[in-house]
Amino acid sequence: MGHHLCEILSESYLEWRVIGTFYSSPGAEASRFQEIPMDLQDEEQISAALKQFQPSVIVHTAANSSPLFCEQNPSDVLAINRPSLLLTLIRRWLPSAIFVLFSSDQVYSGIPPHDSYTEADQPTPINVYGHSKVAAEQLVADSPQDSLILRPSLIFGPAFVRPDGKKKHCFLDVLQEAADTGNRLSLFEDEWRNPIHVVDIAAVVGKTLEIAIANTKESEKVPMKLLFNLGGAAAYSRWEMGLTICGEKKENEECAHFDRCRQEDQVQQVRRPADLRMSSAKAEAYLGRALHDAVRLHLNTPST
Ligand SMILES: NC(=O)c1ccc[n+]([C@@H]2O[C@H](COP(=O)([O-])OP(=O)(O)OC[C@H]3O[C@@H](n4cnc5c(N)ncnc54)[C@H](OP(=O)(O)O)[C@@H]3O)[C@@H](O)[C@H]2O)c1
Repeated sequence: MGHHLCEILSESYLEWRVIGTFYSSPGAEASRFQEIPMDLQDEEQISAALKQFQPSVIVHTAANSSPLFCEQNPSDVLAINRPSLLLTLIRRWLPSAIFVLFSSDQVYSGIPPHDSYTEADQPTPINVYGHSKVAAEQLVADSPQDSLILRPSLIFGPAFVRPDGKKKHCFLDVLQEAADTGNRLSLFEDEWRNPIHVVDIAAVVGKTLEIAIANTKESEKVPMKLLFNLGGAAAYSRWEMGLTICGEKKENEECAHFDRCRQEDQVQQVRRPADLRMSSAKAEAYLGRALHDAVRLHLNTPST
């Protein structure tokens, strides 16, 4: 996500200087933006970057985002997912900087039945990953920085290929690859998400920052504390995503490449929220347009 966000923002806002950070390896060599190394546990490195670049906005996409890793390493996870060192240093060096936090739909329990989640619903996470995101949200909400907290659903977008050829790709591409290679997968029919596309996330971030940066120039500045659910226009079960990849109808019992199964019948190493269908009406009203059906948008976007 972080790489795509830097690409899209640097292309859409030519007057902004966008700087990406990487931890284990840089992104593509032909990036439109500068990349610098960053370990979020390294006080000196963070301070040096803040002092050198003096960013108006800091977007925290970094995370330990594997729910299994989080479950097995709860304290390591908190150090990255709840960015207390970073926020302390921002307060010290750049108190007027705006902070954007990537949280998750997994702050909600997903235990059915419930209406589509809205921002007014209380977070009730059921795994360590979700708890770490709630802790991060709390930290950011309590900090004096202007802030934007995003709760994205499952994120879809183009694959990200590192210079060493290593590829990160989204769940739909995993399904497509399985279908292409004949690797038959079982997909939950009772696990629901509102997938969101990277272009929509970037649009919400871009619009918020445009407004916030203009706001900082005014003499009577209004503090900003925004929180948005970010789910796309259409909800899908994992099974329905598989059917869509195969061009089959939602009511189909059979699929050429995938089998249907139920999450509730499986013994799992980590509790997975079952039904995270959410309303993003607040973000849509803010953006002034509907968010896309991310599955359709991804499948209709030619890969480069
Ligand atoms: N992907 C989804 O479907 C989804 C859904 C909801 C919410 N989110 C949230 O949205 C954000 C972006 O998601 P994503 O899928 O792009 O996550 P991701 O692929 O797991 O990327 C997170 C990045 O964090 C960096 N990182 C890890 N440890 C670090 C450290 N000590 N210091 C600095 N950076 C460190 C890693 O950088 P390197 O690669 O350089 O090592 C990694 O690429 C995350 O906060 C995630 O929790 C994601």
